[in-house]
Amino acid sequence: MTGKGFRQKKEKCRKEIITIDGPAGAGKSTVSKMLARHLHYLYLDTGAMYRAVALKVRQEGVNPEDEAALEDLCQNIKIIFQGDDEGKRIILDGEDVTRKIREPAIGWMASRVSMKRSVREAMVRLQRKIGEKGKIVAEGRDTGTVVFPDARYKFFLSAEPGERARRRRLELVGTGLSLKIEEIEKEMARRDEQDSSRELAPLRRATDALLIDSTGLTPEEVVARMLQVVRKEDGQL
Ligand code: DC
Repeated sequence: MTGKGFRQKKEKCRKEIITIDGPAGAGKSTVSKMLARHLHYLYLDTGAMYRAVALKVRQEGVNPEDEAALEDLCQNIKIIFQGDDEGKRIILDGEDVTRKIREPAIGWMASRVSMKRSVREAMVRLQRKIGEKGKIVAEGRDTGTVVFPDARYKFFLSAEPGERARRRRLELVGTGLSLKIEEIEKEMARRDEQDSSRELAPLRRATDALLIDSTGLTPEEVVARMLQVVRKEDGQL
């Protein structure tokens, strides 16, 4: 087989999965939802899953350093995504926690528990199950490096810290939470540092992911760039 033929065959074998990773507030959620809608793909918010675990840890008073207790909690947890991407609800053990999991304290706890092996293993297993049939846009920190290393398209979204904090603030206001911009910037920097320096699946750009700096770009412009790549490389999409 010629080099080109082999490459084409390999490309066809790669799953119809698009991954979008990056730090907090880079605009991943908005862009991922838009891209998924455009392609008629499913949107998978992996961060929401770690946030749901974090909320459960809080509710049950589990010590986030206790691996055995975390493993037990993850074995019994039920996380369900309900509804379409725009109004997607997150149901945790029967309770609608869509708003609760967005609180900054839960974001910090999610970052803490996501360092633990038992939590990561359980969530990655679930994420791969959701992605089994392909046609998904997965968003998170390790979707291109660990969860779906064979994804057909990988993006890494970044933006300057000030802009990320402003965006996060707007997002929080949308959910009814109002915080000072300085507080948000500090919290995000702390979380990014923790997510990037952890031993397991740290926040990192996959070597084959395309870096997009979204500073000064609208979500529509970012999505247009992504679609350009997807369409250029794959006439079918
Ligand atoms: O994307 P987010 O802010 O909702 O994610 C909350 C935390 O969950 C984040 O600080 C780290 C963790 N996370 C992770 O470890 N791996 C992912 N794929 C997604 C999120």
